[in-house]
Amino acid sequence: MKNRNNSINAFALALLTVVFMTGCNCNDNNQPTNLTTKTDNGKIAMETIMTRTSIRSFTDRAVSADTIEMLLRAGMAAPTAVNKQPWHFVAITDRAILDSLGGNGRQSQMWKESTLAITVCGDMEKALEGSAQAFWVQDCSAATENILLAAHALGLGAVWTGCYPMVDRIAHVSQVLNLPDQLVPLCVIVMGYPNESPEPKDKWKPENVTYNRFE
Ligand SMILES: Cc1cc2nc3c(=O)[nH]c(=O)nc-3n(C[C@H](O)[C@H](O)[C@H](O)COP(=O)(O)O)c2cc1C
Repeated sequence: MKNRNNSINAFALALLTVVFMTGCNCNDNNQPTNLTTKTDNGKIAMETIMTRTSIRSFTDRAVSADTIEMLLRAGMAAPTAVNKQPWHFVAITDRAILDSLGGNGRQSQMWKESTLAITVCGDMEKALEGSAQAFWVQDCSAATENILLAAHALGLGAVWTGCYPMVDRIAHVSQVLNLPDQLVPLCVIVMGYPNESPEPKDKWKPENVTYNRFE
C-alpha cells in the first residue's frame, strides 16, 4: 500500500512538475519564451531530488576517478556564507581505511560493502571568525546534500553518516584519517553502486508549512 501511495505521489509530482514548468514557460510580461532545455533540466533536477533515498548496501563495482571528481565538483558547487568555502574533502577508496571507518559497530557491514566514502570536513582556518564561524556547518551540509544528489544522478547509492557534533565519532574519523587539527569532520558519505532499491520516503507534510506569517 505504501509503495502504491509512493507511486501515485511520484506520478502526481511528475504531473505537477510538468504543469509548473509549462506555467513558467513565459517571461516577465507573460510572453512565451523558448525554455525547452531549461524545462527538461528542471524536470530531471526535480526527479533527482524527489527520488533520492539513503542506500546502505552496495555491489563490489569500483567508482572511477572521473566519477569521484564529478562528486567532488558537485560538493564544491554548493553555496557558502560569504563564499568562504571553508571545507576540505577526503575521498577514500582504500579497502582497509573504509573498513576501519566502519569499525565493528552496528553498521560495519555497510562500510565493508562500500567502495567509496567522502568525508566532508569543516576547515577552521578557512571559516569565518566569531559567531559566524558556525556557518561552516551549513556550508558543509549544503556540499553534502549536493554530493548525495550527484551520486544519485550518476547511478550511485549513498548515505550521510553524521560525525559533528558527536565527539566520539569526530575522534574516530579524525584518528583513522589522520586529519590535521583544523579539520572537523561533519560527516562521512558512504557510497558505492547500489545493491538495494528502497522506495524514497514521502515526507511531504503540509502541516510543517506556514505561508507568510503565523496568525
Ligand atoms: C545529520 C545526519 C546524520 C545521519 N547519520 C546516519 C548514520 O549514522 N547512519 C545511517 O545509516 N544514516 C544516517 N543518516 C541518514 C538518515 O537516517 C536518513 O537520511 C533519513 O532516515 C531519511 O531517509 P532518506 O535519506 O532515505 O530520505 C544521517 C542523516 C543526517 C542528515
